[in-house]
Amino acid sequence: MAKLNFSNMKGKILSVTALLLCCASVSLGAVEYIRHSQGYYEAKLIFRLEASVEQWTSRFQFESTVQNFTVRVPNTQIFNASNAITYNFGSVGYFPIAVGEWAIDFSVAYQDTGSMPQLQLASFNGRDLDTGYIAPPTTTARPTKPPPSTGEHHYDEIIALSLEFYEAQRSGKLPPNNRIWWRGDSFLDDGQLNGLDLSGGYTDAADLVKFGFALVSTTTVLNWGLIDFLPGYNSANQTGYAEDAVKWALDFLIKAHPTSHEFYGQVADADVDHAWWGRPEDWDQGLRESWKITRDKPGSELAAEGAAAFASGYLVFRNRNSSYAQELLRHARELYSFADEFRGDYTDAIPAEGFYDSWSGYGDELGWAAAWLYRATNESKYLQDVNRHWTEFNLSRRADKFSWDDKKAGLQVLMGKLTREDKYLSPATQFCDYMKNTQQRTPKGLVFIQEWGSLRHSANIAFICLNLAELGVKSAEYREFAKEQIHYALGAGGRSYVVGYGENPPQRPRHRASSCPPRPSPCNRQNGLYNPGPNYYTLYGALVGGPGSQDDYVDDRDDYVRNEVAIDYNAGFQGALAALQKLKINGQLP
Ligand SMILES: *[C@@H]1O[C@H](CO)[C@@H](O)[C@H](O)[C@H]1NC(C)=O
Ligand SMILES: *[C@@H]1O[C@H](CO)[C@@H](O)[C@H](O)[C@H]1NC(C)=O
Ligand SMILES: *[C@@H]1O[C@H](CO)[C@@H](O)[C@H](O)[C@H]1NC(C)=O
Ligand SMILES: *[C@@H]1O[C@H](CO)[C@@H](O)[C@H](O)[C@H]1NC(C)=O
Ligand SMILES: *[C@@H]1O[C@H](CO)[C@@H](O)[C@H](O)[C@H]1NC(C)=O
Ligand SMILES: *[C@@H]1O[C@H](CO)[C@@H](O)[C@H](O)[C@H]1NC(C)=O
Repeated sequence: MAKLNFSNMKGKILSVTALLLCCASVSLGAVEYIRHSQGYYEAKLIFRLEASVEQWTSRFQFESTVQNFTVRVPNTQIFNASNAITYNFGSVGYFPIAVGEWAIDFSVAYQDTGSMPQLQLASFNGRDLDTGYIAPPTTTARPTKPPPSTGEHHYDEIIALSLEFYEAQRSGKLPPNNRIWWRGDSFLDDGQLNGLDLSGGYTDAADLVKFGFALVSTTTVLNWGLIDFLPGYNSANQTGYAEDAVKWALDFLIKAHPTSHEFYGQVADADVDHAWWGRPEDWDQGLRESWKITRDKPGSELAAEGAAAFASGYLVFRNRNSSYAQELLRHARELYSFADEFRGDYTDAIPAEGFYDSWSGYGDELGWAAAWLYRATNESKYLQDVNRHWTEFNLSRRADKFSWDDKKAGLQVLMGKLTREDKYLSPATQFCDYMKNTQQRTPKGLVFIQEWGSLRHSANIAFICLNLAELGVKSAEYREFAKEQIHYALGAGGRSYVVGYGENPPQRPRHRASSCPPRPSPCNRQNGLYNPGPNYYTLYGALVGGPGSQDDYVDDRDDYVRNEVAIDYNAGFQGALAALQKLKINGQLP
């Protein structure tokens, strides 16, 4: 246990001196938290006795009601309590304590309402003690099932963890079944400046901006995994959580699309956001701006990917909630027409430049959106549109990645699935062959696309090639390749890159909410971002950026290239895990 840290308490020394002059029996007091988990904490009140005692009584008053207060000191008794807030307790019989530092250990169970009942007032033998807070509680990480020693992995467990990561990224009013106990409601007034409700959705990464373009492509990829690898989700018993995860995004996107030619594509000024560090729940920088695309300022990438997200969402919910699914399909059709008829680069309307630029242009999203609408509706006009875009934008090119920006490889595989035509299957095959055989690799075998978020790229490629393998194209080869890439992230690269899972996982992912010490401590750059210790809360299931080209990686919160987390990082990764889980239960895992 940490020693009393006087340097943390400079501000309090003066008042303590005053106390010493006046009473000279006890001095100084500080609450040190030992352990904190949902609805429960253990702490000790540390103070110094200036004279020995032979028996004692103490009185604790909490900020709010506690369900169960326990004094963890032998031979003590609680004499009485009032309103579950104030407790009188003390020694039973002879209880000598010598001059010097002493502590009362105690534990508190409370109704988890998001804030812990802190000790407010305390006294010892009639003298008031300072209840100032010195060290935040460390969270007890929940043990996760260790990977089997054979080099295989529990994909079901990791899918479940990944879905917890999405839950930790939720913005807005959290539902009663929220499982991330250290998160609360946030940004309920998003959209207010624009006269509408834009609360909800997901915060992007470490930061708290809602970047629409990254959000819609994340949603499409998650939907795709749910549609085509549903048995993987089912056998992991995660289908309900996965549906909740995409619905959380889709419900927000519905609000972001109030009329046919208006689609909000960013909430919060990224520069303002990035200058701040703290809990989402504590944001104090004012109302956040929102930006939209319109007829006058169109953005075809954003509208088309939005259409893809809605059309794939329709396919997820078609058999579960047909009225909801029909609403999603309506948004998909409208956004696709908007994207196609009003052409433009979305960053001309939305200040996402420097964050989510669309380097690949909007042609790939137009083709991709038409393909998803074709899959959702089977209407030949959408097939014709795929081919129109295919020609106009030369979408048969081999892509150099599959990402929130570049959808070509996804389009090729998806159309290959829907038509079984070589026209599509052949460029998709070229993509997987190139990635497997020619693309740069790290010494330990990770397919290396770029420094920034290297693992999300390899996971996305794995996901694409697992989809292609489902079509009977080089199935064994691509499955082996994809498994190897995913296993790199799970441990084969020398360590786990998934927070809370496996061998030596990252403990300092760049992520605001989980980096913050528990309340009542404030959270800021100094004690959150630059805290040398692990994040206070374990951000289960988050895939971090990953290593550089030489498998080089340091678990450093300040490294946003290698150690940030993001909603798009986990999307292809989770889909690939569902695919591997499906193969596993079918006995087809290589
Ligand atoms: C209160 O907490 C103590 C220690 O954690 C435990 O032994 C006891 O059973 C709890 N009492 C109630 C009523 O929950
Ligand atoms: C509670 O216990 C304290 C300490 O023994 C005593 O001084 C006080 O009178 C008690 N209060 C009640 C209401 O019994
Ligand atoms: C499956 O998940 C549900 C929650 O979605 C849970 O109530 C149930 O216990 C789980 N079943 C198994 C076998 O894990
Ligand atoms: C269908 O979705 C809508 C919109 O979220 C919801 O209000 C409704 O309760 C859902 N119906 C069913 C049967 O789940
Ligand atoms: C899709 O439409 C084609 C004709 O355009 C038809 O042959 C096929 O059966 C339809 N498929 C589905 C799933 O409705
Ligand atoms: C289309 O892409 C292929 C392959 O990269 C290239 O050879 C061809 O020149 C491109 N055509 C156009 C019209 O850009």
